[in-house]
Amino acid sequence: MKTTLILLLMSAMPFSLSAQEMPQTQKMKPVSAEYLVKDYSYLYGMPGFSDELLKMHFQLYQGYVKNTNLLLNRFKELELQDRDQTYDYGALKRRFGWEWDGMRLHEFYFDNLGGSEALDKSSTLFQRIVKDFGSYEAWKKNFMATGLIRGIGWVILYRDPQTGRLFNTWINEHDVGHLAGGSPLLVMDVFEHAYITQYGLEKGKYIQAFFDNVDWSKPVKRYNDAVGSE
Ligand SMILES: [Fe+2]
Repeated sequence: MKTTLILLLMSAMPFSLSAQEMPQTQKMKPVSAEYLVKDYSYLYGMPGFSDELLKMHFQLYQGYVKNTNLLLNRFKELELQDRDQTYDYGALKRRFGWEWDGMRLHEFYFDNLGGSEALDKSSTLFQRIVKDFGSYEAWKKNFMATGLIRGIGWVILYRDPQTGRLFNTWINEHDVGHLAGGSPLLVMDVFEHAYITQYGLEKGKYIQAFFDNVDWSKPVKRYNDAVGSE
């Protein structure tokens, strides 16, 4: 069981470049901190999420920030060497969306946790949910069902800026399935590392714990910002 857990966690570990893969110049240069790690330690003590689980999850998130910065440095270095048509450059480029999304989605996720109050029924977000899904309960049931899809990834309540329509969207890993131009309103991590050390295979219990801790002021603000920017 322990070995299985380690393998599962390793499968979710951010990609990193080994020292052997880095040219000498990269080893000598400090990695710039274009993106900074955000502090979510205020979430410790959140009901349904052990501090151990959160600590591990914060470390995984930090890995994505580190590797996003590392990739940006590698791109710059290869471009300066006029090596942007090499196989290596292309292979690293293919990783960028994965690392960057891994960073940003964790920020959306942690940011929309830490609350305890229900979504305000008078909010325009609540009203739009009712319009698109029939009721808040029907939307929540569908969001939870999307989270129960087998596999690792994310569930995102997305808003289409062209029609205003909301979608509960399954994202495979970090980078497959996003709605182009859509605004992410509520983001839930369903990688195994988000719950398995505390809930085992009972993903539904984790999803319920997630809902018990959503800070709805964040999705409401994201929704209002998206509508207001049009
Ligand atoms: Fe995660």
